[in-house]
Amino acid sequence: MDGNGLNIAVIGYGYWGPNLVRNFFAAGANVAYIVDKDENRLAMAKRAYPTVNTTTDINHALQDTNVDAVAIALPVSFHYQIARMALLADKHVLVEKPMTKSRKSAEELIEIALRKNKVIMCDHTFLYTGAVKKIYEMISENALGQLQYFDSIRINLGLFQNDVNVIWDLAPHDISILSYITDEQPVSVSAAGLSHTKNNVENIAYLSLFYQSNFIAHINVSWVSPVKVRRTMIGGKTKTIIYDDVEPTEKVKIYDSSYTVSNDEANLFMVDYRVGDIYIPKLDTTEALKNMARSFCGAVTKSSKPESDYSIALKVVSLLEAAEKSLKDKGKEYKL
Ligand SMILES: NC(=O)c1ccc[n+]([C@@H]2O[C@H](COP(=O)([O-])OP(=O)(O)OC[C@H]3O[C@@H](n4cnc5c(N)ncnc54)[C@H](O)[C@@H]3O)[C@@H](O)[C@H]2O)c1
Repeated sequence: MDGNGLNIAVIGYGYWGPNLVRNFFAAGANVAYIVDKDENRLAMAKRAYPTVNTTTDINHALQDTNVDAVAIALPVSFHYQIARMALLADKHVLVEKPMTKSRKSAEELIEIALRKNKVIMCDHTFLYTGAVKKIYEMISENALGQLQYFDSIRINLGLFQNDVNVIWDLAPHDISILSYITDEQPVSVSAAGLSHTKNNVENIAYLSLFYQSNFIAHINVSWVSPVKVRRTMIGGKTKTIIYDDVEPTEKVKIYDSSYTVSNDEANLFMVDYRVGDIYIPKLDTTEALKNMARSFCGAVTKSSKPESDYSIALKVVSLLEAAEKSLKDKGKEYKL
């Protein structure tokens, strides 16, 4: 397995950290340390994995020369500082999404990693789902015709974060998917959103991404919806994908419907509609995080290029930074 012989320290054992630990073991790696400032979380970790070293001091893991890599599942504000410490201690680094809170700090981490010949990768988990892999495959084969729009709703009664707003928390998923499935990059972004709490951290937002071609993307993210919606439409000239991540099995549906526009003899505008079949492809059901853990281990042990490589992470952070500026500026369009 890709993770064989690899010793990893997982930093942060809150909600997401345990998923990383479980999947690194599943990928064949050895989780040598679990680090958390909270002793109760460490006690839980020790109960689940009695042989793993647990500590509140990250330096124990960083100073251990047997540790090859560090996986960071801390709140976003800590990503840059801890990833930098780990790289400077000659460790490969996996950092949770989003990589950092600014483009400048992401660029600095990438520069250090390249200089030290270490892997730096961000866990954009959705790139490792069977659904997104299938969508990528179909778009690569031009099965939808020329792409026209991407329209995503990612809303639920979500956990309000203190250190980042809803854009930084949820939109990395959509932006990473977009960056993965299309080669074209947006040229500008406009974002509107609001905070309904005293801390002024926005809990609802709408992002519009503009492209040079006739493609447009829209993303709605929210922590205040009573229902959970994870629905993305990707429209092409001839077919449209509806990706519903809440669906247990039939997550991806391809609608073979389209329209053509022509002018009649009197030069009047005419639209012809074509309504065809709906195709539901079979998807790989391997847990995405297991694929992600394998991908990180493969990048370290075999120098293979991960789907979620640092260039996607940098695009995500750059776009989020511009979107945040636009948000504070009442939706003004910001160039990328
Ligand atoms: N890829 C995904 O789909 C996905 C899903 C959820 C969360 N995440 C990401 O995972 C990261 C963690 O999120 P979470 O929901 O697990 O947060 P969390 O608050 O549940 O857990 C964070 C843990 O870090 C510990 N911690 C905080 N500061 C620390 C420090 N300085 N030193 C040591 N330990 C410290 C806390 O005690 C806590 O146990 C975030 O970046 C988030 O965006 C990713």
